[in-house]
Amino acid sequence: MTPRSFLLTPELGDYVRASSEPPDDVVTDLLAETAALADRGEVPATFQIAPEQGTFMQLLTAALGARRAIEIGTFTGYSALCIARGLPEDGSLLCLDVSEEWTAVARRYWARAGLADRIELRLGDAHESLAALPAEPTFDLAFVDADKTGYPAYVDALHPRLTPGGIVLLDNTLASGRVLDPQSDNERAIADLNAALATDPRWETVLLPLADGLTMLRKR
Ligand SMILES: C[S@@+](CC[C@H](N)C(=O)[O-])C[C@H]1O[C@@H](n2cnc3c(N)ncnc32)[C@H](O)[C@@H]1O
Repeated sequence: MTPRSFLLTPELGDYVRASSEPPDDVVTDLLAETAALADRGEVPATFQIAPEQGTFMQLLTAALGARRAIEIGTFTGYSALCIARGLPEDGSLLCLDVSEEWTAVARRYWARAGLADRIELRLGDAHESLAALPAEPTFDLAFVDADKTGYPAYVDALHPRLTPGGIVLLDNTLASGRVLDPQSDNERAIADLNAALATDPRWETVLLPLADGLTMLRKR
């Protein structure tokens, strides 16, 4: 089963997808392969973003005219594929992830989609990979979907590396609704970050109730 938003009944989830651009064969196969891996317990079932979020991110990337993008947390490559498809032909996406095994799946689908030359993957701890990048305005768009307790550090590290008006998307900022009564370190980190970002003068901020919550930050 592909990931679903906790905010939608199964029927409304199906309706949302049926009312959006349908996935092509590459995306259909990637979602199916990841779902099969999850069914066999080989990958977590909750990692991949929902299809309506992927479609939204592709559209947003194109609408922004983003040329250089960065993703933190790539997994089997679905969100990266969506961002890369929204970039122009000479655009580029830098993906940071620690898992060689999961991103091997990603590489196969990026190649099949004809996107391999638009995406660079760096394996290793994303905090270190990000810190090693020049602290100068480089990226028009960033998507963060890795370790939740690391989100505040990712936001801080991304700020100098974004172009003026650049966008950061933070995934899972509703934590399946548990931000209202956070119990785990991950949930507390997200709830604290949400509260801080609402009044952070560095960013224009909106938390969109899409999928598991997608916060959009615009660098002032
Ligand atoms: C939720 S999944 C990403 C899902 C992906 N965006 C998608 O839609 O398919 C989180 C990913 O973050 C990676 N990750 C977690 N902590 C990390 C870290 N400190 N550095 C690099 N990657 C990390 C994991 O290996 C995993 O692939």
